Amino acid sequence: MTDSNHVTITPAPRVGGVVSVPGDKSISHRLAMMAAIAEGNTIIHNFAESVDCASTLECLRRLGVAVAREGTFVSIEGRGLQGLMPPSQDLDAGNSGTTVRLMSGLVAGFPFESRFIGDESLSRRPMKRVIDPLRQFGAVVEARDENFLPLKITGGTLTALEFTMPVASAQVKSAVLLAGLYARGLSRVHEPVQTRNHTEIALTEFGARIRTGAHIIEVEGGHPLRGKEFSVPGDLSSAAFFLSAALAVPNSRLRLKRVGLNQTRAGFISLLAAMQAKITVEERSIAGGEHTGDVIAETSEIAGIEIAGNWVPNVIDEIPMLAVLGTRTQEGIRIRDAAELRSKESDRIHAVTTNLRALGANVEEYPDGLFVPGKQTLRGGVVDSFGDHRIAMAFAVAGLFSAGPVTIKNPACVAISFPGFFQRLQEIR
Ligand code: S3P
Repeated sequence: MTDSNHVTITPAPRVGGVVSVPGDKSISHRLAMMAAIAEGNTIIHNFAESVDCASTLECLRRLGVAVAREGTFVSIEGRGLQGLMPPSQDLDAGNSGTTVRLMSGLVAGFPFESRFIGDESLSRRPMKRVIDPLRQFGAVVEARDENFLPLKITGGTLTALEFTMPVASAQVKSAVLLAGLYARGLSRVHEPVQTRNHTEIALTEFGARIRTGAHIIEVEGGHPLRGKEFSVPGDLSSAAFFLSAALAVPNSRLRLKRVGLNQTRAGFISLLAAMQAKITVEERSIAGGEHTGDVIAETSEIAGIEIAGNWVPNVIDEIPMLAVLGTRTQEGIRIRDAAELRSKESDRIHAVTTNLRALGANVEEYPDGLFVPGKQTLRGGVVDSFGDHRIAMAFAVAGLFSAGPVTIKNPACVAISFPGFFQRLQEIR
């Protein structure tokens, strides 16, 4: 049953088949931004069908970039390192943290003012983490209460920066690396805990002067990027919902086609394999510097685990799904050191705890995580998406393996990363 305000997912006796998920959101944002400042044309196949990535393309257009798009095919005429134009309007990042945080690094290289705005959720998310390094580069930055949108950036001549990451955030690291393209000399980022490295990989592919070592990344400013052709792998963070469905629903087996398996993102698979889940990879390949493969999952008895410390950034977007899956494990899933989850599209610790309780589960909430005991049968019921795409999708999957139907309020937000999600979920039944 679906209307625009509710979706109800009924229990499934089994799920099966072959599923493709949209192109990786993180990679799509990065390729589009780098293409905009490259020399020559860039072609991107399998560009993410996500509303967030559409926000990035629209902001680039407002900066004078010619972007042509037909479905998942995107072609961008690079304007060269110095070629962005003063924006004709505000840069509206919508719901997308990646758009505003990464692009703030990009526009910091230009001597005009750019003003970022966003929706209600994005306007509540912290920006000080990018404001600090951009000011250290020499950009002039203003924000509401020094931390929130609207964010005004006037850049220009930047001085190379040596920056140690205070939070484990790929978005902040990427903003610094993109601004580093505009600073004279060598900028250096120290990253105590590794976060996703798509920016480093994409910059290498575009021909930037970048070196990566253990916990350190260096980029040399002033060197042109060269446009080229890419094919974006499927988004593992989207695949995680289907893989979880196959693991939790009886008599099930699913193959997820050509999923991104970058080792800074694939913790979801390693952790589940460590929990004796039947999850395997076939057809491994590399394209545009990114590892890909088909991932196969089948109904499993899953042991349980504690996820903490350095593992957290690697699975940060999969934690809502892992927490829901925790009810189906033998020993439960405990998540610690993940206070960052409170600053995502919603407070994901609160959202997951509230929704699991609404479905009849026992959950313990901590300031930096939660414990979901195992061997629990969800009884079904009504939950809220909290306007957060990953919460909506994690609880839709819960509906497939609960005793009764699960109704999700405000489900339209799935389009932020995965338009067509509910239809795809229907097709595997
Ligand atoms: C992203 C990085 C992560 C992640 C987000 C996408 C990226 O956020 O949660 O969904 O594309 O760089 P942080 O960098 O804030 O940890």
